[in-house]
Order: sequence, then C-alpha cells, then structure tokens
Amino acid sequence: MTTSDIRGLRTSFTREEYVSDEHFAREMESVYGSTWCFAGLSQELTHVGDRLVAEVGSESILIVRNREGELRAYYNVCQHRGSQLCDESGSGHGAAITCPYHAWSYSLDGKLVSAIHHAKEDFDRECIALTSVRVDEWQGCIFVCLSETAPSLIDSLEHLYSAPRSLERFDLGSLVRAHHTVDEAQCNWKVLAENYSECLHCSVVHPEFCDLVPVYKTGRTIESDREDWAARLKTGASAISFDATSSLPMIPGMTEPLVYGAFVYPNMLIDVMPTCVALTRYVPRSASHTTVHTDYLFPKETLEDPSVDLTPTLSFNDLVNQQDIAVSERVQRGVSSKSFVRAHHTGMEKYAQQFVKRYRTDVN
Ligand code: FES
Ligand SMILES: [Fe+2]
Repeated sequence: MTTSDIRGLRTSFTREEYVSDEHFAREMESVYGSTWCFAGLSQELTHVGDRLVAEVGSESILIVRNREGELRAYYNVCQHRGSQLCDESGSGHGAAITCPYHAWSYSLDGKLVSAIHHAKEDFDRECIALTSVRVDEWQGCIFVCLSETAPSLIDSLEHLYSAPRSLERFDLGSLVRAHHTVDEAQCNWKVLAENYSECLHCSVVHPEFCDLVPVYKTGRTIESDREDWAARLKTGASAISFDATSSLPMIPGMTEPLVYGAFVYPNMLIDVMPTCVALTRYVPRSASHTTVHTDYLFPKETLEDPSVDLTPTLSFNDLVNQQDIAVSERVQRGVSSKSFVRAHHTGMEKYAQQFVKRYRTDVN
C-alpha cells in the first residue's frame, strides 16, 4: 500500500495520471497491453464465421469463431498495405475475412487464401497471415491478451485480488444476454474503476440502491458477518429492480437474495444480482473519455417466459449506472484543475487501494 503524508490516508492517483494523454498512452501499453482484457461475450460468436471487433488499449482486435468452433483473435490489420479489416461496429459473419481495400481474403485461421487479379504463383501466399493475439474464454466471457508472456487467463484470474473465480458458482456462461447499453463517459477509466471499488459514495449518490441493499448505507460494500463478500437485500426484496418483489427466476447458484460485485482488473465489472447479472466493459478512448458497455444477462427460462417484463430491472440498473457515470464525470472535471495534486483513500476504500496497488505493478 502507498502511504500518504496525511495520517490515516493512503495515496491514490495523481492529477497527471488522470488527465495526461502522454500518461494515457503509456498505460495503454503497460496495463492494457500486458494483461488479459475483457473483450465481449462468447454468445456473440455462436456460429462458425461470427466475428466481433474489440478495442484493447490502443489496438483494434478482430475475434472470430473458426471452423473447429474455436475462438481466434488477430490484430485487425491487413498484411497487404495495412488497411483495417473490420470496422469497430464490425460484429458480423463470413466464411472468410476480406479486406475492404483490395479484397485480399483470409481464412478464419488467419491465412491469406486469395488476392484478386493475382494468380497463385505471383507471390508466396503461405508467408502471409494475420498476426495472432492470445484469446481465451472464462464463464462465457472472451478475454484477449496482447502480451505473449503474461500468465494464462485462468492463472491471472486466480491470483487477482478481487477473486472473480469465486463467482463461478453462478455459472455465468449459462446466462443469456437480453440487453446491451453503451455510454460515453467523459472521464478517465481509473476514475470509474475507483468509484466502482468503494461504497462511501453510495448513500449520497445511490439512494434507491441503498434502500434495497441496506449495508450500502454504511459505506461498506459487504457485510462483515459474511465471508462470501455478499450483501443482503432488505427483508422482502427479491430483485435489484424497481419491482423489488419481482418473481423473476433466480440465477443458478443463488439461494437467497444477495448481491456480489467484482472488478476484474483492468476493464471488467461483474455484478451478480438475484435475478440478473450485469457485465460491464470499459473501453478507454483518451485520458478523459471512456466508453462503457454493459450487458444484462438472465437465465434462459426468464427470457423464454413471454409474460416477463425486464424493464423494471433494466431501468433500475441503468439509473445506478448513470449515477456512477455522472459523479465520475464530476471527478474528472475536478481533477483537471491545476490546483489538484493527487487523490487519497481512507481506510474504508480498501478495494480502491487494492486497485491502485495492482496498477502500480504495471505502471510506476
Ligand atoms: S490493404 Fe488490404 S487488400 Fe490491400
Ligand atoms: Fe456507485
């Protein structure tokens, strides 16, 4: 932990670390370029040839499902003259990956298979292939890693301070995406991650959420008498929703109405709720801009019931999301002041402090 000159406080990030584009470029390399990053859902790529584009740090990555049903990931760059292959909105499908510039075409395994106006013998096609990136899947979530030397995905998750593997008991991979939101947050990704990692703000910013989860009123995220890092819903409530007594089916592994949360460094939030799971993905754009994607997943049986109305659940969660983004944008405006030197954490912000500590192993 990083001690502060101020008794009882720990240091967090400096003004420069929140606002400098030079620092941003450095951390895109040393954080997003060195570890596994959440890139999307496996269920977005169910068929051979399905594809999606994920921005990871300063790179655009193309992820496809190949003929063997396995995931493959490549830098989204044609080997002819470097055109980007697929647009960022490039989820789609195709038996091959064809460049929109001169139509060189690559197999789903990244090999160059055709180049119009050229006979096979014109040049040595076997020497040309898309550049691969490590890709793996955990609980239905796709992760990519730009580093060749980082530990495996499962090792990385196993050793992460927020213990995301403890959430495997909820069988996240069995849940089905019902809704997706995209927000453009005018703030640094670390401001969002710190905000997620503490609940000192909850009683001030999230009155509706605190009404449903009483421990949040106290500034704590989990209950001290529980070892499983959970928080109980108030008596009588069964869902994080404007319809708190909702009878939606519980997710697998949920035996009583509880909430769990984990920040999966560097860019993923997992919110496990009684009837729904929200998976959030940060895409940092600049020092002061982050795109926030949120997927809402439910048990299959919930979505198969035509009488179910998801609106109260989705709109409640979106309210909390917008409250968090609004305060994070307020922080970004504040830390941009020349008067601001660095942020601090109190002893009650220990998860935010763990985030800083993990970050310092990548950036110092
Ligand atoms: S740059 Fe892709 S085919 Fe020419
Ligand atoms: Fe919050």
